[in-house]
Amino acid sequence: MELTLHLNYDSAIPLHQQVYAGIRVAILACRLLPGQRVPSTRSLSRSLNISRTTITQSYEQLLTEGYLEAKHGSGTFVCRQLPDELLHAETIVPNANPTSSSIKLSCYANYLAETPFALQPEPTVEISFRYGRPALKQFPIALWRKLLSQRCQSDFQWLDYALDPQGYYPLRAAIAQYLSRARAVQCQPEQIVITNGTQQALDLILRVLLEPGDAIALEDPGYLSARKVFLSHRAKLLPIPVDQSGLLVEKLAHLATDQVRLVYVTPSHQFPTGATLSLARRLELLSWANQARVLILEDDYDSEYRYGDRPIPALQGLDNSGSVLYIGTFSKVLFPSLRIGYLVLPPQLVPLIAHAKWLSDRQIPTLEQQVLTDFIEEGHLESHIRKMRAHYDRARQILVQALRSHFGEQIEILGEKAGIHVMVRFSLSISDTEILHRAEAVSVGIMPAAPHYLVNGGEGEFILGYGELDETAIAEGIHRLASVLK
Ligand SMILES: Cc1ncc(COP(=O)(O)O)c(C=O)c1O
Repeated sequence: MELTLHLNYDSAIPLHQQVYAGIRVAILACRLLPGQRVPSTRSLSRSLNISRTTITQSYEQLLTEGYLEAKHGSGTFVCRQLPDELLHAETIVPNANPTSSSIKLSCYANYLAETPFALQPEPTVEISFRYGRPALKQFPIALWRKLLSQRCQSDFQWLDYALDPQGYYPLRAAIAQYLSRARAVQCQPEQIVITNGTQQALDLILRVLLEPGDAIALEDPGYLSARKVFLSHRAKLLPIPVDQSGLLVEKLAHLATDQVRLVYVTPSHQFPTGATLSLARRLELLSWANQARVLILEDDYDSEYRYGDRPIPALQGLDNSGSVLYIGTFSKVLFPSLRIGYLVLPPQLVPLIAHAKWLSDRQIPTLEQQVLTDFIEEGHLESHIRKMRAHYDRARQILVQALRSHFGEQIEILGEKAGIHVMVRFSLSISDTEILHRAEAVSVGIMPAAPHYLVNGGEGEFILGYGELDETAIAEGIHRLASVLK
């Protein structure tokens, strides 16, 4: 790996101290991350053009102070467990607070500066019920590799800029057919814009449709990452409660509709409660949106996974007035780092969203779009979904059974009929923080639902993802939880 250090060869400060300080600062500023390998003394001495003894001296100091750790035979690494006090050592990034800088920031950047943001590494536990991860080990990697290599060799067009800001046309055609078969979505390939997942889809929609101060009605509790995008565009948030049949649509009638631009919903599998929006409420929502001239953002992120009853057709398919913007993603059915999602839009919005997309990132890589097209056209997507549905169904049954048998009356399980997570409500007289501590003490990771609530709530509620756990780990995880919570 390359490590750039600024050394002053004329300084009175000895070089070994400068190297030591440079690496230490890089660690504290998270430019070098825990567990990351640092260059060998030989290669660093070569790239900095100073003696290896000097570098060794600096490394020894960093090893002694616990910033680095050496693994015999495999190299030197940033220590995995940096003590907190090291991470909070004296400020090492000049002007770390962006708002105190002399650089004038945009309104958007001011929001970013005011909002705590850190992609935290997952806590290292043996059994993690973390939300949102599909069973990556089940992914047909050999098949994907084969399709990838065929496309790589076929021609060189994919190396060049794409001319279509909406995305690779054959992929849009394959998605349109899949959506009409599987989700009863009414659409033509011309209405689709391929995006970098749901996250970008939401951002693009807001750029095109929202003025700061406009209001968005949204489910409460709801999907935190969507809420963050809305806030970054300075939307006013109008939380609408949900119950076992999804969004309480009747509450929308009380809103001053001249302010409301959008309603964001996850009707097929409400996040995080798992409720399905009933047909009656779907029709009520469409009728309200049509009358109030409000657009609906339908986030259909994992509806492929339904157990027992039949998949509910998408809201978009019931709409005849062009009020629904449908968002889909391959993050759950395939794998999240693919970063391919899509928007199905009313035709008049397509050129604007495609233009905004091009301005933002030009295009999604063509090669991945081509491979995905082959994957869908050759029938692998649907057979993978069928296989995974059976896999998750088994995992889900083990989880629900274990939760019921260990916690009995002390637990309510919500949203077990769909998706790859459930939400549970514990009736234990233990605070959420204490529940998390106790779970961690037995090396089990669970996620509190409270951060997904906008208005207070969620105490005692947790999200348990089971996508990536095998049956033994699920049973063992719940056994361990019960042993410390009951
Ligand atoms: C409600 C909801 N929508 C969408 C997504 C997927 O987002 P993306 O497509 O950006 O990976 C998730 C992922 O966890 C989700 O929970």
